[in-house]
Amino acid sequence: MNKTRGQWSSNIGFIFATAGSAIGLGNIWKFPGKVGMGGGGAFMVIYFAIVFTVGISIMLTELVVGRKTQKNAVEAFNDLNPKWKFTGILGVLSAFIVLSYYCVIGGYVLKYVVTYIAGANFSGGYEQYFNSFVTNPITPIIYLILFMALTSFIVTCGISGGIEKANKLLMPTLFILLFILLIRSLTIKGASEGISFLFTFDFGKITPNILLTALGQALFSLSIGLGTACTYASYLGKKENLAKNAGVICTLDTFVAFLSAFIIIPAVFATGTPLTSGNSFAFIALPGIFDKMPAGTFFGGLFYILLTFAALTSSISLMETIVAYVSENMKMSRKKAAVIISSSMLFLGILYSLSQGALPLHGIWYTVRDGITFPTFGVMMEHITDYIMIPLGGLFFCVFVGWIWGSKNAIDEITQNGTIKFRLQKIWSFTIKYIAPILIAIVMIMEFAGNIKF
Ligand code: PFF
Repeated sequence: MNKTRGQWSSNIGFIFATAGSAIGLGNIWKFPGKVGMGGGGAFMVIYFAIVFTVGISIMLTELVVGRKTQKNAVEAFNDLNPKWKFTGILGVLSAFIVLSYYCVIGGYVLKYVVTYIAGANFSGGYEQYFNSFVTNPITPIIYLILFMALTSFIVTCGISGGIEKANKLLMPTLFILLFILLIRSLTIKGASEGISFLFTFDFGKITPNILLTALGQALFSLSIGLGTACTYASYLGKKENLAKNAGVICTLDTFVAFLSAFIIIPAVFATGTPLTSGNSFAFIALPGIFDKMPAGTFFGGLFYILLTFAALTSSISLMETIVAYVSENMKMSRKKAAVIISSSMLFLGILYSLSQGALPLHGIWYTVRDGITFPTFGVMMEHITDYIMIPLGGLFFCVFVGWIWGSKNAIDEITQNGTIKFRLQKIWSFTIKYIAPILIAIVMIMEFAGNIKF
């Protein structure tokens, strides 16, 4: 083993960190809206099925490549088969792009924490408040820098001393906050309508589009396809049970997604708010919901603190994936790597931030689809990663482990040559060779054929 590399101090530290990577804005800010679109309970059933067949299988391919090689995502592939190094490079590149806009949204969340601490005064209206913030050319960038600095600082403190410590503190706190908010939401007058919606299994609403949305959401939510799980697993000892870990991480992530739906949807129904997802929901609709709740300012503040923690543990994993590669391959300290990465990423982040309306370049920066105005540059970055780079990454991980390196070798690493039990090895092998790549390929083909509405 490489003595200069960090290591998790325990398996539970690894689980906290990898679950922390998975549990992020995607669970809280995107998932409930998609449940709303996809017919409530029916979407949740489909999502659950996808996570526990395809999602968990891809997660295990990442873990096994990382743990086997104990190297960063690029070197891991280089070690096993240099021709497949491109998969690692694609992952690091995707992580770079996702991180640059993830930090912008992380900055928005920080801003709302400050807003709630200051008493949550939205006197000009929620939409006006959000729009005047995002269209300001300076303030969102200051929050972006703050969020990015926080992320970089934790990463430079190392694996067990920085990432593991932060996750061990943030993740349990996040769970406590989630439960407090769940009780608040379920006890609002009129919450029962939302609860019954979540138990409505309207499978008629499950169109191919919704299926594809569920798959895309699962990959993003589990943080797979970018080499982050692979990087985290490279700091894991050989005696740990990878298959079990994959199961625990996917369960925790899905549990939080479901919990978020049970927090947000009853509140949405009780207050008569339209259920959407993304920025307009998180920063315009939700403050309205909190205002209608008793003690809403307090619970709103808690919610944005929770969102900050969730975003931070995810951005840390994205940054670590890049820092591990840059510091190890370019032989520089983690600190220097983090500074170089943050400053170059800031450039992309600033472009994303300005594309939200600060630059009056309509026509270049905006596109109108179905009567709705989208900021082009931001949408482009999200779409390239969510619908092309991440699914491709997941596909390559499956094909590589299933066919190139070979599932037999992978199973030897998972079971440590038969000393650790792995009962589902045949099903796993079949899933990564056939089911997962075929499903991802269909999603991508449909995306290219323009069948997905965003
Ligand atoms: N899984 C995170 C979320 O749900 O917000 C986002 C993410 C983090 C995606 C890390 C990919 C990744 F590598």
